[in-house]
Amino acid sequence: MSRATPALLHPFARPAATDFVSIVRGEGAVVWDSTGKRYVDGLASLWYCNVGHGRGEVVDAVARQLRELETYHCFERFTTPTTDALAERLVALAPVPDSRVFLTSGGSEAVDTALKLSRIAHAQSGNPHRTLAISRFPSYHGVSYGAMSLTGLPLNRKDFGPGVGDVEQVHKDDLDAVRTHLEGGRVAAVFAEPVVGAGGVWPPVEGYLKGLRALCDEHGAHLVLDEVICGFGRLGSLFAGEHFGIAADITTFAKGVTSGYVPLGGALIAPSVHEPLAADPSFVLRHGYTYSGHSAAAAAALACLDLTEQEGLVDRATQIGERLEPQLRALEADGLVTAVRGVGALWGVSVEEPVAVRDRMLALGVIVRPIAPSTLAICPPLVIGDDDLDAIPAAMRTALT
Ligand SMILES: Cc1ncc(COP(=O)(O)O)c(C=O)c1O
Repeated sequence: MSRATPALLHPFARPAATDFVSIVRGEGAVVWDSTGKRYVDGLASLWYCNVGHGRGEVVDAVARQLRELETYHCFERFTTPTTDALAERLVALAPVPDSRVFLTSGGSEAVDTALKLSRIAHAQSGNPHRTLAISRFPSYHGVSYGAMSLTGLPLNRKDFGPGVGDVEQVHKDDLDAVRTHLEGGRVAAVFAEPVVGAGGVWPPVEGYLKGLRALCDEHGAHLVLDEVICGFGRLGSLFAGEHFGIAADITTFAKGVTSGYVPLGGALIAPSVHEPLAADPSFVLRHGYTYSGHSAAAAAALACLDLTEQEGLVDRATQIGERLEPQLRALEADGLVTAVRGVGALWGVSVEEPVAVRDRMLALGVIVRPIAPSTLAICPPLVIGDDDLDAIPAAMRTALT
């Protein structure tokens, strides 16, 4: 019996849809579909493939690990050397000295972890009333119930029932609204993407993040920077907080940490959060995922960090922005796009009918992503060459003309 819809129920898609582009191969910043058509991957798959597709170095590292030991869990008394090596490497790179790291399988779990750790750290510090979480709109933090509840995109919550309690949202630029909540004395944490990604690519207004840091310090709340897109070089610094001159109590990450070769996420946890947890030697942290600390994911992350360092990919992100921005501004000057926003290798342009423009660009062999509000997102692999990079605004120009 043939069926009208495919067996795979696609994420963030119309369940009735039947028309899909099947990607079969990738190399650097380029992918090919099942008909042999070549595409410049202007979104690094889904904002994650920083080191590029088809990197044998990562494949070999993962294969070596899988042959030796696929993984072993890290609950209670167990660990694996690759997991420990990654943890050591990440905390050595972390913006806050003496941080620790908690590992997950992706970004939503990382955000849930940040919320739970913040609340429980306050409880362990004698402040169990600090349970309120503040997030911003627009924003995107994921789809698990915790992450969905923090996400500032109403359509992503619609008809999914009640979210997690004690979450309040404020406009992304409104520091006064954050202050008002903080003055109530019940805030556990304030969540912010350094540059809002899937919510429209919105760099922070001047001074906003430093202001947020100061307010959290003044009122005893944690600052969580959700760097699931912005981390691991995307903005031209390894962690985005550094780019904006602030340090978070918790920094969530995923995506670029393994460039998608194996799913991995996590949270870097500053002493302000992990010290209260370790203060009582009898306290047990009853949180963790089966794959928290998966060895193959850790092997992939170590290999990706090696490539990031060896190939200067953090600096390359800055160069990508310097080359891309004038070409996007030229589209704006010619009236083809109405706004251009971005930092480093993360950009968004405002267009009417972004889905139709995306479809025309796909036909021209360039992948970008339509997101709300009327935005096309550009977030290429950091290994992209200049010719492929230039192909993105060029295809956009053709598609818009
Ligand atoms: C800033 C941010 N946080 C969290 C998430 C959720 O990550 P995941 O889809 O891996 O659960 C995303 C995904 O795009 C994201 O952009």
